[in-house]
Amino acid sequence: MIKIAPSLLAADFVLLEREIRAVEAAGADYIHLDVMDGHFVPNITFGPMVVEAIRKTTALTLDVHLMISDPGRYVRAFADSGADVCTVHVEVGTDLRALLREIRELGMRAGATVKPATPVEALYPLLPSLDLALVMSVEPGFGGQAFMPESLEKVRRLRAEIERQDVDVEIEIDGGIGLENAGQAVAAGAEVLVAGSAAFRDGKVVKNVAALRRAGLAGLT
Ligand code: DX5
Ligand code: ZN
Repeated sequence: MIKIAPSLLAADFVLLEREIRAVEAAGADYIHLDVMDGHFVPNITFGPMVVEAIRKTTALTLDVHLMISDPGRYVRAFADSGADVCTVHVEVGTDLRALLREIRELGMRAGATVKPATPVEALYPLLPSLDLALVMSVEPGFGGQAFMPESLEKVRRLRAEIERQDVDVEIEIDGGIGLENAGQAVAAGAEVLVAGSAAFRDGKVVKNVAALRRAGLAGLT
């Protein structure tokens, strides 16, 4: 079993409801929502107001990826907006364990993630506090970048550590995922594939998600 999480970053924001209907029709598992503050990353996207609007139009799992410098200040707002999964970056330098506990207490699933330059080992002590561990396979900030193959080794090591600690943590990979690497990502141990450009390419979401799922599942054999 693998999950496909189209990132709305690559969607047409004027037609957001139509894009969400397409993601649903495609049988996607999560909707990945990239929140950027122009400070932690050099780009600005949207905040809880937009997540709340999306929540009103779909029952799909809302997978919120917070690329913001002060996530602690906003996790409650994202919980109130209807987020299901809330993922924070270890690089923010706050007491992650307390923050992850708060995320769970607010009723969300807790996620943590590492930028490409951060060793995946930074996630190991957090695993018991996590429901999802995200390996970034591009520098966070923008969609449409090239996949960094080094991230596969991070996924492999993380998978081994999750097994060693015997914890129930889903591995997600995000950035540059497409038909050419989805299988490799799954073979390395990823269970949730985030895809922005590859999911929305040519407006053919149903076809793209099906192809991504096939490519990903091929990595299991
Ligand atoms: C990048 C975001 C990704 C992005 C992926 O900072 O975290 O979720 O939308 O887009 P693609 O799949 O185009 O790399
Ligand atoms: Zn993301």
